[in-house]
Amino acid sequence: MTTATVLREPAVAAPRPAQPHVHVRDLTVRYAAQDPLVLDGVHLDLFPGEMVALLGASGSGKSTLMKTLTGFAPVTSGTVRVGDTDLTALRRGQLRTLRSDVGQVFQQFNLIGRLSVLTNVLTGSLHRAGAVNLLGTFRGADRRRALALLDRVGIAHKADAEARTLSGGQQQRVAIARALMQEPTLILADEPVASLDPTMSRTVLELLQSIAREEKIPVLVSLHVLPLALDHSDRIVGLRHGEIVVSGRTDELDADHLAPVYEVDAAEGEEE
Ligand SMILES: Nc1ncnc2c1ncn2[C@@H]1O[C@H](COP(=O)(O)OP(=O)(O)OP(=O)(O)O)[C@@H](O)[C@H]1O
Ligand SMILES: [Mg+2]
Repeated sequence: MTTATVLREPAVAAPRPAQPHVHVRDLTVRYAAQDPLVLDGVHLDLFPGEMVALLGASGSGKSTLMKTLTGFAPVTSGTVRVGDTDLTALRRGQLRTLRSDVGQVFQQFNLIGRLSVLTNVLTGSLHRAGAVNLLGTFRGADRRRALALLDRVGIAHKADAEARTLSGGQQQRVAIARALMQEPTLILADEPVASLDPTMSRTVLELLQSIAREEKIPVLVSLHVLPLALDHSDRIVGLRHGEIVVSGRTDELDADHLAPVYEVDAAEGEEE
C-alpha cells in the first residue's frame, strides 16, 4: 500500500489553509433581553476541506450555533464571519447571498414529498437568476447537473420517483444532492442522521466527509452519537451549556476526553 492513500495519517494530511472560511470569536447569543445566554464565549474556526462534528447534550446550543452562521439566530456580541460576510455588520442583500452559499441538511430531510426526486434537487438552483425559464421548467444544464449529483449520492435510479416514496436514507441523500446543487461554500448539517439506522448513518456521514474533502469546503455536522463522531470527523467540538468544553483533532480524542460534554451537574437533576 502506498502512503498516499492513508488520508488520516497526520504525516501525509494536506496542510490546512491558513484562512478559515468560518471565523467565530467570543460569540454570545441570547434570544431575548431577559433570557439567559444560550451561547457563551464561543470560538470556532472552520477550514476548507474539513468535517467538524459538533457534540452536546440537548439544549447545549448546537442548532443555535449553526443558525448564527446563516443569520437565523441573533449575534448578541462577538465576531461571526462566514466567507466575506460579517454577520455583525450585514449590508442589504448580503444575508440572501450568504444563505444561497450555505447548503443545509436537516434531521427531517425537508424535501417536498409530492415532487420528484430530480425536481427536489433542482430546487437547490432556484436562488440563481435564470434557473427557471418562462415556461417554468429548469434549464437543461441544471437538469444534467442534478442527475450527475444524484448519481454521486448513489440514487440516480430514483430520479423520477416521488420524494415521499423514498426511505429515510435515500431522502437524506437527495437532500445532500440538493445542497450540492447550490454549489455551497459551506455545509451545515443539523443532526442529519438522527432519523437513520446505524448503517445508513455511516453511509451519509461518509458521504458528507467525502464532500468536504472533494469540494474543499467545511462541513459542520451536529451529532448525538459519540462513536459516529469519532469515526467520521476530522475535528470535534463539544458544547455544554453554551460553552465549548472540548475542541481538538478527532485522532487525538477518545471517549474519556469527551466525557465533560455530557457531564450532568448534581444540581441539574433529571431536568435534561
Ligand atoms: N427561537 C428561540 N427562542 C428562544 N430560545 C431558544 C430559541 N431556540 C432555542 N432556544 C433555547 O436555546 C437553548 C439551546 O437550544 P438549541 O436548539 O440551540 O440546542 P441544541 O443543542 O440544538 O439541542 P437539541 O440537541 O435538542 O437539538 C435551549 O435552551 C433553547 O430552549
Ligand atoms: Mg438542535
